[in-house]
Amino acid sequence: MCGILGCAGVDDAASILYEGLERLEYRGYDSAGLAVANGNTLALERVAGRVHQLNIRSLPPATYGIAHTRWATHGPPTKANAHPHQPCDASVAIAHNGIIENHAELRNALETSGHTFTSDTDTEVVAHLLEDTYDGDIVASLDTVKEQLEGTYALLAIHAEEPGVVAATRYRSPLVLGLAEQGNFVASDVVAFRAYTDQVIFLEDGDVARVTRDSYDVTPATPRTIEPQRVDWKLEEATKAGFPHFMLKEIHEQPRSIEEALVGRTNLGTFDIESNDLTLPDLACFDDAVFIACGSSYNAALAASRLFQTHANIATRVELASEYEPLEATAERTLVIAVTQSGETADTLDALRKAQNSGATTLSVTNVVGSTATRQADAWVPIRAGPEISVAATKSFTGQLNVLHLLALHLGHLRRGSSQPKIHEEMEALRHVPTLLRSLLDDTTHLDQIGRWLADHERCFVLGKGQGHAVALESALKIKEISYIHAEGLAAGELKHGPLALIEDGTPVLALAPGGTLMDSMRSSMEEVAARGAHVIALTDTREAFQDSGFETVHAPGEEPSTFPYTATVMGQVIAYYAAIERGTNVDKPRNLAKSVTVE
Ligand code: F6R
Repeated sequence: MCGILGCAGVDDAASILYEGLERLEYRGYDSAGLAVANGNTLALERVAGRVHQLNIRSLPPATYGIAHTRWATHGPPTKANAHPHQPCDASVAIAHNGIIENHAELRNALETSGHTFTSDTDTEVVAHLLEDTYDGDIVASLDTVKEQLEGTYALLAIHAEEPGVVAATRYRSPLVLGLAEQGNFVASDVVAFRAYTDQVIFLEDGDVARVTRDSYDVTPATPRTIEPQRVDWKLEEATKAGFPHFMLKEIHEQPRSIEEALVGRTNLGTFDIESNDLTLPDLACFDDAVFIACGSSYNAALAASRLFQTHANIATRVELASEYEPLEATAERTLVIAVTQSGETADTLDALRKAQNSGATTLSVTNVVGSTATRQADAWVPIRAGPEISVAATKSFTGQLNVLHLLALHLGHLRRGSSQPKIHEEMEALRHVPTLLRSLLDDTTHLDQIGRWLADHERCFVLGKGQGHAVALESALKIKEISYIHAEGLAAGELKHGPLALIEDGTPVLALAPGGTLMDSMRSSMEEVAARGAHVIALTDTREAFQDSGFETVHAPGEEPSTFPYTATVMGQVIAYYAAIERGTNVDKPRNLAKSVTVE
């Protein structure tokens, strides 16, 4: 996720863009840049780092320009990879939010025809394509170029020979016009220009817009009346995009972040591995995989390890990074997968080093491109969840699970051949996850009530089976870290081996009970604790199973067993959030915890 902003006809473009970028920084903050135009030259200022590191005093006075704050998905966060990007003749500057899926083939063709690239980004192809197609009208060029792009994009472009014009288009990435007395704006989020206007026009997929000082000219992809509408919130409410906490915002971002994670990865056989020498088929040659991770990332790895076994027929081990010791005897045939949101967790990096020293091949799965984990491992894969500000991992957990799930399916496809109906079915089911999460998050009233009820208790249990066990551990971790209730995640079958002794009248037990093969044994565990007085709440995706059971039940949308881990995770997050709210804790910054644990 990145933030983009363009303005036309303003008094001091560089300062206005800078101020807008600061407000957009929640969408990405590993690099930033802006381009303004003065006469017939475009001037750029870019930085690998935060917006405040931009030196806008180096820029000439200007009335229009574009800007970008980046959360890297292709290429590390360096100055060369920061937007805006320009083609060989520097006539154009562009800013992009999204992922150009077919960038590699476009780049090959452009390089063959003599273009020289200066960045590792997927975006730069667009600048060169605009250079090739430009015929005096940057808006028309953008309209033409967009037809060659596959993937998702919100794109802004300016041309040195067209003072005052910002061209814009979008596909599956937000873009909104802002109409102000001081000039007109276009951005990925209203917050970027809300200080100047409340009059907006939301662009739709395929729309193309020409934004100038006095006019906005939108060519709609499908005929419709284009009329400004008024936003009814004030700037002060917008720092968390209207949500009271980053955690709740990030919970609600999950349909979108999973959509991003799926882009370009749902056709079996096509899954980008970032590496100088390792390819997806190389990874498919390993018979053993060892996951190393901490905390939520460990839980994601635990859930994913079963998918590697089932779909890819790869033997797996999941190790807490702080406990990891490599097995030198098997190192050569082992793929070690470091799962880390931040890419900077000291225990995980240390384990990664040990794995490398033992001779194993390493892959990291991370949310932060350019982090140590991406530089240190032999290959890496981004989860594309966008910046996660709240200390408690939410969208990064579902992102990790999703990317590992996809990887298991791709590896399974390569290792076992294309005639595996289960792999195709599961890939199809994954495409529905964003819609299911959207529908779940549409109404969380019941989960809110459960969370607030839970707040009155000092301890609780979360039960699961199979992948649900990992989700139970994750839900319990969320509850304990933000509400400070002592929560324990358990494999349901383990109850009778000890924990049952802790169940007494009124003990809260959340049971993750998906339909399908696990239902019967989950149900008997639930009966077992209910018989000892527990208050059991079933979180399930099947209506029938609990109709006359007497258990309090929350239904999640979806019927495929493979989507339940995602909906169940989000239900657990929402319950934990409202338990914390009821207890009045500091949700985004729980006591004693830090976002990135860079000490061992
Ligand atoms: C819990 C949480 C932590 C992290 C853990 C690893 O909500 O966020 O448990 O998952 O500290 O961090 P990363 O994934 O950055 O290696």
